[in-house]
Amino acid sequence: MTRNMVAGNWKMFKSPQEAHLFAESFQSLLASTQLRFPVGIFPNYLSIPTLVTALQGTGNVFVGAQNCHEQDEGAFTGETSAAMVRSAGASHVLVGHSERREYYSESGAQLLAKTRAAIRNGLTPVFCCGEKLEDRKAGLQNQVIQAQLDDVVGNLSEDEIANTVIAYEPVWAIGTGETASPEQAQEVHEFIRNYLTNRSAELSASTTILYGGSVKPGNARELFSQPDIDGGLIGGASLKPEDFFSIVATMNAMQ
Ligand code: PGA
Repeated sequence: MTRNMVAGNWKMFKSPQEAHLFAESFQSLLASTQLRFPVGIFPNYLSIPTLVTALQGTGNVFVGAQNCHEQDEGAFTGETSAAMVRSAGASHVLVGHSERREYYSESGAQLLAKTRAAIRNGLTPVFCCGEKLEDRKAGLQNQVIQAQLDDVVGNLSEDEIANTVIAYEPVWAIGTGETASPEQAQEVHEFIRNYLTNRSAELSASTTILYGGSVKPGNARELFSQPDIDGGLIGGASLKPEDFFSIVATMNAMQ
């Protein structure tokens, strides 16, 4: 089993029609490629069924949601549960993306509940953590990551962690064009790997840890070459089929 993964976080971009066009282009780019690791796309909820249908039969490609509610159903106007996400054909869900922490004030307790809802409903949570610029400037990145991991991963059983992907996304590198240097990213990835080793060496060796924050075709190889970086969570560059494919192909060539 490979730890490698490349995933696109589309945020609030692309209608179902646009998602369909993307899928057609991406599939034709993939046509002569044998993917050796899972590749995911996280569109808005409405585009999940579109992508699931359009990408059916494309080996090693999955669809995920960007969020889910912590309860399976109920009177929560405007919300979507993990059970619904699963039944729409998605297999993964992002939890704790910095934009949700920042704009929707998602707390550690809520993120733990969402992670558990995901696992309970057969979804793989992709738990995102990352420090802000002021934390990085003060040299506090490891403390911030430790606290974010303690909120969620520290409360999961080993079986639950085995079903979880972790993404390190320094907030100062998201959508800014400023990427963490491979060394800066590796340092935090190693910190996360060691955090997992404290639970179990086996778990640590098998957990996928993605890097996210301005990954582009031009910097993917350097980042993916780091020993504890298992792949990328790609925002802006995942919106263009050619750029996303180029990042995917970079990882495929490294297998
Ligand atoms: P970016 O976003 O690649 O546009 O920096 C990454 C993310 O938010 O997941």
